[in-house]
Amino acid sequence: MILRIDSISKTYPANGSPVEALRDVSLDLAGGQFGALRGASGCGKSTLLLTAGGLLRPDRGHVVVADKDLYAMPPNARAAFRARHIGFVFQQFHLVPYLTVLDNVLTATLGLDAAARSTARQRAIELIEQFGLTTRIRHRPAQLSTGERQRTALARALLNHPTLVLADEPTGNLDQDNATIVLQHLRDYATEGAAVLLVTHDPNATQEAQLRLKMADGQIEPDDPPPV
Ligand SMILES: Nc1ncnc2c1ncn2[C@@H]1O[C@H](COP(=O)(O)OP(=O)(O)OP(=O)(O)O)[C@@H](O)[C@H]1O
Ligand SMILES: [Mg+2]
Repeated sequence: MILRIDSISKTYPANGSPVEALRDVSLDLAGGQFGALRGASGCGKSTLLLTAGGLLRPDRGHVVVADKDLYAMPPNARAAFRARHIGFVFQQFHLVPYLTVLDNVLTATLGLDAAARSTARQRAIELIEQFGLTTRIRHRPAQLSTGERQRTALARALLNHPTLVLADEPTGNLDQDNATIVLQHLRDYATEGAAVLLVTHDPNATQEAQLRLKMADGQIEPDDPPPV
């Protein structure tokens, strides 16, 4: 199992009116599997992804990625593990504003050894090309459309060949053609052996997923396939 989420709960304190964003959530995702998670705004999807990605410690429970208990590791070790094994696409992208598209993608290699960094540049250029951004490679985020930023964030997430890809609505700002390219890429990436979990409301993504999940009020349950 690449991702094992075991009974996690998370409550945000939020100025005296606490929000129970995750209530005893468990899920398993194996290599080669593509998972799709949907649910109403505010139900806890991004919280679940952040927790699964080692970015937000749950109050209770465990997150195990490739046999490592993420929150049992010291922060430095967790950061190094994340850089190597987990590709994350944030809902708000979190690109570095003063870096070009190419350099944003290459930030994924910060902290990796020189050997890994030397091959990364060519792969970055290839991913940028696959996502249709070659003519924007020297642009900075403020000079990009929202969908171009989204694809830059995706290229960054895939750069280090992560074992686990977590992507928060990665086609949310894309037209049909670009959404199809991105979904195809993520699906192929899962077929090569990675575990891929998407937050998505795109019926095409849900259709193709091996694991379909629906979230409501901090809890998940299996989801039905979308109508054809
Ligand atoms: N840092 C925070 N502090 C306090 N409350 C938070 C924080 N982040 C999220 N919340 C609350 O937790 C709940 C779950 O938020 P989350 O971002 O996980 O929802 P979501 O399902 O991703 O929603 P959306 O579809 O709008 O992105 C929401 O009710 C939100 O108000
Ligand atoms: Mg969200």
